[in-house]
Amino acid sequence: MSKNSSHSRAQWGSHFGFLMAAVGSAIGLGNLWRFPYLVGSYGGAVFVILYLVLLLIIGVPLMLTEITIGQYGKTDPYGSYQRISPRISGFGSMALLCGFLILCYYGTIGGWVTYYSMVYLFSLFGGAGIPEGKAVDIFMEMISRPGIAISWHLVFMLSCIIIVLGGLDKGTERANKVMMPALFIILLVLAFVSMSFKGATAGLDFYLKPDFSKMSLSVAGEALGQVFFSLSLGMGAMLTYGSYLKADQSAKRNSVLIPSFDTMAALLAGFVIFPAVFAVGMEPTSGAGLVFVTLPEVFNKLPAGNLIGFLFFVTVFFAAVSSAISLLEVVVAYFIDQKKTPRKKATLSVGVIAALLGILPALSQGNGPLAKATISSLFGSPEWMSSIRLLNLAAFDLLDYITGRIMLPLGGLALCITGGWIMGKEKLLSIITKDGERPFKLAGVYFFIVKYIAPIAILIVFIQALSGG
Ligand code: PFF
Repeated sequence: MSKNSSHSRAQWGSHFGFLMAAVGSAIGLGNLWRFPYLVGSYGGAVFVILYLVLLLIIGVPLMLTEITIGQYGKTDPYGSYQRISPRISGFGSMALLCGFLILCYYGTIGGWVTYYSMVYLFSLFGGAGIPEGKAVDIFMEMISRPGIAISWHLVFMLSCIIIVLGGLDKGTERANKVMMPALFIILLVLAFVSMSFKGATAGLDFYLKPDFSKMSLSVAGEALGQVFFSLSLGMGAMLTYGSYLKADQSAKRNSVLIPSFDTMAALLAGFVIFPAVFAVGMEPTSGAGLVFVTLPEVFNKLPAGNLIGFLFFVTVFFAAVSSAISLLEVVVAYFIDQKKTPRKKATLSVGVIAALLGILPALSQGNGPLAKATISSLFGSPEWMSSIRLLNLAAFDLLDYITGRIMLPLGGLALCITGGWIMGKEKLLSIITKDGERPFKLAGVYFFIVKYIAPIAILIVFIQALSGG
């Protein structure tokens, strides 16, 4: 029995509030930054198709499983897994650790997005913005100047801390109810603008017409990893948000709605980016730099480019903040529920520690002499610094690799084992259907996927990724 059962726990103010918060968690940098660059790098429409198929057959069932575990456990990931069986409380600890580690490096890119929003905002009032041909220089300067990298990372983290301090309904719920609709409106407007450019159809072809020769197991692996990351699955975020959901609210409906909104946002981001990139004759294959380097050059060639740039980066900022607050909430919920720490203290401690640890990945992207000098003056000798570049991976890439390639699939596997094997069909389905009150036509298929298909798919991808694929 979880320790918190005796005190009354926060709940969402409304169903819409929960939905917007969960959608806010799901829609993030994964949709607006990672999805387009993966599509760009892995052959366009083929990646999109693989992503959609895996989302449908693995993402949606596991979303239902994770929300259900939270709704049943009614507490943080550790307590929820423990309530199901003390043997698997370790799954909860892993989820907490994974959420925390992602938060640490999420702030790096969150900081870049905040910086770009500001640069574009000032450009509307006479600032230089990102002048033509200068996008690479500005990007390199941002990531390698410790002053910029650290301060904007901290501004981003502070925004998240302030929202989570406000509490579940007055902070997280209220912020998401504004940010999410705003995000969709801006993306829609930008997609129409982008598709109206001359030459945009080449981008649409790349995005929508599959070239099946580009299909491979490794692309499928990338797509499955992206499904987990984009849906915030496997690290306790949906579990925690589900734990604030009343028992009479349907996890099933939400498990279809959340991925639908999430996918709409990712697809819309593609409709904003690819037509514009092709319209100005650029390549979509610049990888992680697509949004920060290629896109500003695209904006430069467009009418009202600075305004479009500003709207785009503010949207990405909203998306990033709403995801980061869910990561923070996972760990904060643990301290509130298990350790009885007041929300204020829990949020401040976890948030500040994540922000400080996040300085390492924020600095690790810069290879400039200034960055190196600052790292060694802050953290000691250059030899020590090289140890954070373990295996030649910078702290950022290391965290991305450990969480994305190892902990995330394991978190997914934990959901399958818990739902499919430990809870078992009868118990899992009786919670989902509220003892048969709610119809669930696809119950058999759902359970078969959770018990067999999803774990096998995750294992294949996991082993393939570890073997260097
Ligand atoms: N789903 C978020 C995105 O697409 O950017 C990232 C994320 C948020 C992952 C929260 C995990 C999580 F718990």
